[in-house]
Amino acid sequence: MRNEMKLNDDWRFHLGEIGSPVKTVKKAGAIGGLTAPLKGEDGEQITIGQGGKHFLNLISQGDLKRGLRMLAGTDMDSELTEEWDRIAIPHDWSVAVPYVDAPELLMSGSKPENIGYYRKTFSLDATLEANQIVLKFDGVMRMASVWLNGIYLGDNISGYTPFEFDITEIAKFGDEGVNVLLVRADTTTGAEGWWYEGAGIYKEVRLQFLPKVYVDDDSFYIYTKEIGENAVLGCEATFVNCTDKPQTVRPTLHVGDQQVAFDGITIEPLHSVSINKDFLIYQPRLWTPETPHLYEATIRIYGEQQNIDEFSTTFGIRKISYDKNGFFLNGSNYLLKGVCEHQDFAGVGVALNKDIVEFKLLKLKEMGVNAYRSAHHFASKDLLDCCDRLGIIVMNENRILETSPWRLRDLEKMVKRTRNHASLCFWSIANEEVIGNTKLGHRMAKRVTALMQSLDYEHLLVSAELLNPEGIVDQEYMSNFDVVGVNYPEAGVMGEGLKKIKANYPEQPLMSTENASYFSTRGIYKDNAEKCQTNNFGSLYSMVLPGKRKLGDPGVGGTARPEEVLDFIEQNPYMGGSFIWTAFDYAGEPAPFGWPGIGSQFGVLDTCGFEKDYFYYYQSKWTETPMVHVMPHWNKEGLTFNEDGKVEVRVFSNCDEVELFVNDDSQGKQSVGEHHNSWVVDFIPGELKVIAYSKGEAVVSDARVTAKEAVDFLTEVIYDGETTQLIKVEAIDGAGNVVPMANNALDIAIKNGSLLGTGNGNPAYAEEDKENALHLFSGKALLIVKKEAAAVPKIKVAVAEGCGKEGQLSAVSDSKGNP
Ligand code: GAL
Repeated sequence: MRNEMKLNDDWRFHLGEIGSPVKTVKKAGAIGGLTAPLKGEDGEQITIGQGGKHFLNLISQGDLKRGLRMLAGTDMDSELTEEWDRIAIPHDWSVAVPYVDAPELLMSGSKPENIGYYRKTFSLDATLEANQIVLKFDGVMRMASVWLNGIYLGDNISGYTPFEFDITEIAKFGDEGVNVLLVRADTTTGAEGWWYEGAGIYKEVRLQFLPKVYVDDDSFYIYTKEIGENAVLGCEATFVNCTDKPQTVRPTLHVGDQQVAFDGITIEPLHSVSINKDFLIYQPRLWTPETPHLYEATIRIYGEQQNIDEFSTTFGIRKISYDKNGFFLNGSNYLLKGVCEHQDFAGVGVALNKDIVEFKLLKLKEMGVNAYRSAHHFASKDLLDCCDRLGIIVMNENRILETSPWRLRDLEKMVKRTRNHASLCFWSIANEEVIGNTKLGHRMAKRVTALMQSLDYEHLLVSAELLNPEGIVDQEYMSNFDVVGVNYPEAGVMGEGLKKIKANYPEQPLMSTENASYFSTRGIYKDNAEKCQTNNFGSLYSMVLPGKRKLGDPGVGGTARPEEVLDFIEQNPYMGGSFIWTAFDYAGEPAPFGWPGIGSQFGVLDTCGFEKDYFYYYQSKWTETPMVHVMPHWNKEGLTFNEDGKVEVRVFSNCDEVELFVNDDSQGKQSVGEHHNSWVVDFIPGELKVIAYSKGEAVVSDARVTAKEAVDFLTEVIYDGETTQLIKVEAIDGAGNVVPMANNALDIAIKNGSLLGTGNGNPAYAEEDKENALHLFSGKALLIVKKEAAAVPKIKVAVAEGCGKEGQLSAVSDSKGNP
């Protein structure tokens, strides 16, 4: 039976070039250097049999070391110096590297490109020699080269595709000594995207031990053919024989209590055999975002007596279709309440563990999101697993519309790995490719879509296009997709183009694949270009407020206020719904500013997952549990006043009525409006409160209180995962009120845990960053804490020495905020 070993701990890491080991050799297994055991490590630098020794002795005239060096071409005296850090994976080396102000790095987050080396040794028990052994990397950013035991295994180019090597014969077992794994990652050869992509081994590394006759994981495919009282499903699988004799196996498929038997099959030595069969599931429980029911399927192969191998996958039963009227799930028209996302997070870059992935998705659910576009790259397995469970429809995106052989190989692998996921409904083939709508683009799209359709029979193929005022006129190009996606259809030029397509091709299925790109900085109610801050009420730097901006200014690309986006979707239901750009801010692409901007501010949550005000706008539109939110904060210095010296107050709610109070004086009750409710009031320090009513009854309220200076910090666990806690730190004044503009520098001490990273959501590099201490931004910061087994982490937060009022502002609390 198969087994797995994680290789995530005890790595050594070196940032910067050390002189790459060679990739070709004069004698097998003879690269040596850091790719093989070093002095003090258990095993020979180069494994030398009898004949080899004779040969080496000859060339070195008795000096074995010199002979080895001549043979290997590598320095055999390599050492792991103190410069090599001790790290665990997932790891993103860019997080700890200082920011640099360089225009060419602005889009990728102002972190310099570099080369990094990772080295790990591991031992394998002698009994494992009986297996096929596969070394698996879930993600290395980018241009990875891998060596094992003095042998170069190969390269993987893209940072968005997992890859693996069969190391069955190359691995060392028992007293053969340790295995030495060396990985070189190189981000200097060109970015893959125009956003922060991270650097290094940012996902898990594993060894898979397979029996000599096994199920090929990627071949196992379960798909929905028809749904009704019973569902008709298809099943495909391939079995591999790595022995030197023909093997007869009997496959069976298990879904719940149900078992489907296949005829016995014989697999010739070093060959594989594929099977397929339809089967029924009686009274199926369908997968929907509201009821994300998952089935588990196991394909098992039996030899003469016993079970030789088995592989399991979860899947969902659902039918997806799309026509000129929009999206249909299980036959019902269904509104997509979607977001587009990159994959990074505060404090950890792209090295997100499963807990952080789940935290992000739970935040989206809280906002009412039911769809996720993995823009503009393949979604990770962790993300897809989580979307399956939480009921979030996925649009998985091909990185780029190219048909070079390696891209097609990557695509094939990703289609096979993704197609069983219940949450997968759409594949996006391209995003705003400049070759879109051309003959060249058509040839590439044709090849890509044909490949995908040969591997995946149920998911819909979409493109995400930017339109010109004429729309897409090349019918050939358009004909490659089940659905033509339009980015920013709510915007001028794109809207004009869309009208033309709709008029010329009324039957064409169309989808809104990207929307809004609306800027806002969390907790900020005043534009400040120097600090790269934009007002949550609507920024003068936004592309949608005319007058201040012209085409060609940095950051042009956004299109509409959130209210306008959802209006457009309501008026044009055939567009399927929306995919807001973006839910979370991400590092890089610091539109609409240049340096010191280091991150985007398109999100309705910042990079830490702290909500901005418009999070609640979407929540008011997309959820039903009574909610109300009032903006802005109620501290004068941070507010924008109109000519009459008054200030706007805006409220989002899904209830019937809302009533605003300033210091208990009612400012009037209003019916909940189409978009939001708004009052223009005098600023009087104290309390700004809103009460929301349903059927005349007060049901929820929200308030902001004018705060004084910060004297203390509260900590609150906002997510408690299997291995990780996310802890919000918030400044409070002497009366316990949240201080909305606090930016104190903090010292953090942790017991029963360790700090994986910190963040504060500031989209700009701030003066305070130089002090290298964590500081609050708009009153908040985030701690990402790795838990220690069975103990609750305890956090101590104090103002950092030399910053603020030392001695006066200190607090000790456990992770629940208790002193
Ligand atoms: C879109 C693009 C996104 C992002 C966005 C910013 O056109 O697809 O990747 O750059 O603009 O507004």
